[in-house]
Amino acid sequence: MIYETTNSYYILIINNNILDGIMNFIKTLNGEITKTPPIWIMRQAGRYMQDYRNVRSTEKNFIEFCLNPEKASNVTCQPIQKFGMDAAIIFSDILLILHMLNHQVIFVKNEGPKLHKLNLGEPLLLPKWDTYLTNLQPVSEAIKLTRVKLDKSENTKDTPIIGFSGSPWTLFTYLIEGGSSKDFPNARKFLWADHANSKQIFDILTHAIIHFLELQIKAGVNAIMLFDSWAGSIPARFRNEFVYQPTKTITQTLRQKYPRIPIICLPKSIGEGIVEFVDIVQPNCVAVDHLTDIEFVHKSIPKEVVIQGNIDPLCLVTGGDVLKKEVDYLLNLITDRPYIFNLGHGIVPETPEQNVAEIISYIREKNIGLSIS
Ligand code: CP3
Repeated sequence: MIYETTNSYYILIINNNILDGIMNFIKTLNGEITKTPPIWIMRQAGRYMQDYRNVRSTEKNFIEFCLNPEKASNVTCQPIQKFGMDAAIIFSDILLILHMLNHQVIFVKNEGPKLHKLNLGEPLLLPKWDTYLTNLQPVSEAIKLTRVKLDKSENTKDTPIIGFSGSPWTLFTYLIEGGSSKDFPNARKFLWADHANSKQIFDILTHAIIHFLELQIKAGVNAIMLFDSWAGSIPARFRNEFVYQPTKTITQTLRQKYPRIPIICLPKSIGEGIVEFVDIVQPNCVAVDHLTDIEFVHKSIPKEVVIQGNIDPLCLVTGGDVLKKEVDYLLNLITDRPYIFNLGHGIVPETPEQNVAEIISYIREKNIGLSIS
């Protein structure tokens, strides 16, 4: 189904003769193999950038920072203005949703996020959706401001904006653990010991995610990404019920209402499960982490599905010829399907800014792949 939708959209834009105005990133998400792959980097607005640290230092509370449209839009634009990525991802955080579901999140320096956790047997209270969306309005404003700021300069004009959310399972882990975790013992126990309650919590999270993504689409984002950062840590027996099916509900609901908005999914570290994930969830694009064998993914999923990512964030820290060799390997491997350059996970704070600038010009100079024009 999805691929028919994608193709008909593609034909539609050709018929409307507006293809020229559409950037590489959106062309690729709609199935075109462009001469140079589009480039963006997960967490591209972040601590590796001095410009980001300067703005960040003006706001103590991270959630308030995310909810400040002026500052959030400024840092969203920074990497585009400095390095010229092909897409901007709105500056926000996956934990905002939990914050707005009355599980206040605070970020403790060097410890990560801490939030009011949900204990075994406790229900997640159904929010008043109007209030929930009103509280998330600053994200909508940040998106609109980002559009205005990007369009002010010829160099950044029309740069697509990506909206995002965490996936239900990843949000569930933060809710039940009350923060980050390695093995997610409480979240896993919750699934086994309180199955009926788990189902209700996943339903609420799924609704909250759909509402939040809709808010971002209405504000003007051009694509959306679902981060399932801990997809690889759910017991395999629960993958279908708590990863594939809720994610499919999200992609299907949004595609029905907004067929022109492509969807990227990151089912991180899910291993061979990525094949089933793609088959069931049907994203336009699957983001592949650096722990997953890209050759396996490339030969196992349909050619219509765009692949994004796979470079180890620490390879970007290393830079130089080592990084160029990895990029060559990827770009020589994925020649017969659309590919979006990105990392396998978020850029790490120690990454030299120069490595980012260098790899972007290296890719753009290579001029690989097929062109339909
Ligand atoms: O990509 C971008 O540039 C957009 C902004 C963005 C942030 N977080 C900003 C942020 C995005 C897309 C995210 C997603 C996110 N947040 C994920 C999914 C992606 C992934 O990395 O797996 C997750 C799991 C989170 C939750 C989160 N936010 C944690 C665990 C932490 C603390 C640890 C860490 O990596 O710093 C954050 C904080 C956070 N979110 C920062 C940024 C730039 C750093 C905080 C700071 O600047 O003080």
